[in-house]
Amino acid sequence: MVLPIYLYGQKVLRKRATEVAKVTPALTKLAEDMLETMYKSAGIGLAAPQVGQSIRLIVVDITSEEDEERKPYLMFNPQVTVKKGACTAEEGCLSVPGVWADVERPETITVESLDKDGKRQVLRDIDGILARCIQHEIDHLDGVLFVDKISATDRTLNESKLKKLSKDSKSVPA
Ligand code: CO
Repeated sequence: MVLPIYLYGQKVLRKRATEVAKVTPALTKLAEDMLETMYKSAGIGLAAPQVGQSIRLIVVDITSEEDEERKPYLMFNPQVTVKKGACTAEEGCLSVPGVWADVERPETITVESLDKDGKRQVLRDIDGILARCIQHEIDHLDGVLFVDKISATDRTLNESKLKKLSKDSKSVPA
């Protein structure tokens, strides 16, 4: 089921999401719906607050439709346990349509989480788009958006777009 995506300006995107106590079938279903929603919007990551659920769940898949196989990650209670280096690249967000800007983040990370069966999974020393995407999604769980981390210049350049999004999102039923 494709879910509505909450946009910049809506309160749920600014809350700290709560830990998942147990991975239940209902939560796995939510994760699958999030993946479907993300694929439909051609995104590579989505966090539960973006579909209005303030819980610590993210889905990530950096493959594209042209790839032979999709490789989705479902992560409950994800945590970055090791961070190394720094790198800058352009980011966007399904909750902030029309805005892209550079963000600096740690380059290589190790991430621990629970998988769809509630088992502990560890992604060790990952980098590139996967590492960037996971960090962006985990930020969502802490109420942080990528536009909070962009340069003052990019912020100024995008100020009117953000103001408009914020204004429009208030008229959307939440
Ligand atoms: Co985002």
